[in-house]
Amino acid sequence: MEPTLVVVTGPVPQPALDHLQAAGVQLRVGTADTLPVSELHALVAGADAVLTLLTAKVDDAFLDAVGPQVRVVANVAVGYNNIDVAACTARGVTVTNTPGVLTDATADIALALILMATRRLGEGERLIRSGQPWQWGMLFHLGTGIQGRRLGIIGMGQIGLATARRAKACGMTIAYSNRNRVDRAAEQELDATYLSLDELLATSDVVSVHCPSTPATHHLIDAARLAQMKPGAFLVNTARGPIVDEAALVEALRSGTIAGAALDVFEHEPTVHPGLLELDNAVLVPHVGSATLETRTAMALLAADNALRVLGGQAPLTPVR
Ligand code: GLV
Repeated sequence: MEPTLVVVTGPVPQPALDHLQAAGVQLRVGTADTLPVSELHALVAGADAVLTLLTAKVDDAFLDAVGPQVRVVANVAVGYNNIDVAACTARGVTVTNTPGVLTDATADIALALILMATRRLGEGERLIRSGQPWQWGMLFHLGTGIQGRRLGIIGMGQIGLATARRAKACGMTIAYSNRNRVDRAAEQELDATYLSLDELLATSDVVSVHCPSTPATHHLIDAARLAQMKPGAFLVNTARGPIVDEAALVEALRSGTIAGAALDVFEHEPTVHPGLLELDNAVLVPHVGSATLETRTAMALLAADNALRVLGGQAPLTPVR
């Protein structure tokens, strides 16, 4: 009998590869984070399990390329908009993701972006690096304080909650919109107000996006939604780029419809709208929400465990439902 083949579509921290190897599977690992589709399909051919990076598009063509023996696609990410879950389910392929282990790292970045945007830190860094003369002054480089200001969270899942906790510790008040109300205990802990998206946009000083990227949330934040925000407000996105209409955001930042934005994710990643690059009130970081060695290791280990469990006939730890 052929040994069980596990394919990892790109480089991941070594402990996850060691873990898979220790389980006795045959391992094949992609050499780049993003592969041309033909190379990706050649790489995964014959796999019983695939650990996918978020840059790997899993659709019918991918599943055809892997072959009918494939049992599980274990995404090494919490977001799984790269995966056609219905296509996998139709073929009896289990899909898993990595919630939980990246919550704190991503919420840290959301808080960092809130502070970077409101205190104009990117702009300050650029000023110093430009070599232009500058001097401390009472009225120099003033930002906006966040104490007592309202943070509006769109999508109160684990990362939204963790961001809200951090922001509350910094003195912000919390509002959220979500498909459902979170449990009473969490609402009480955060003193959080449940609002419609319209109410949230109209009353928040900082709006932070934490919902999944689905057809329903594509361009959820468009020109009309941006116009609903307070003129001095800031938008933060650490979820997925396509949730925000980037061209509309550029216009809103240019015209002063909102005061600023801070983005970890982009609509057409890795391309960034050229208009954003010119704007001092846009903070731009390169999709680093979960990018710590500890977190990426935990994500890859969780994905490996999910794959091994499905191959062993057990329920995965974190299935996508
Ligand atoms: C990262 O963006 C993730 O979804 O895990």
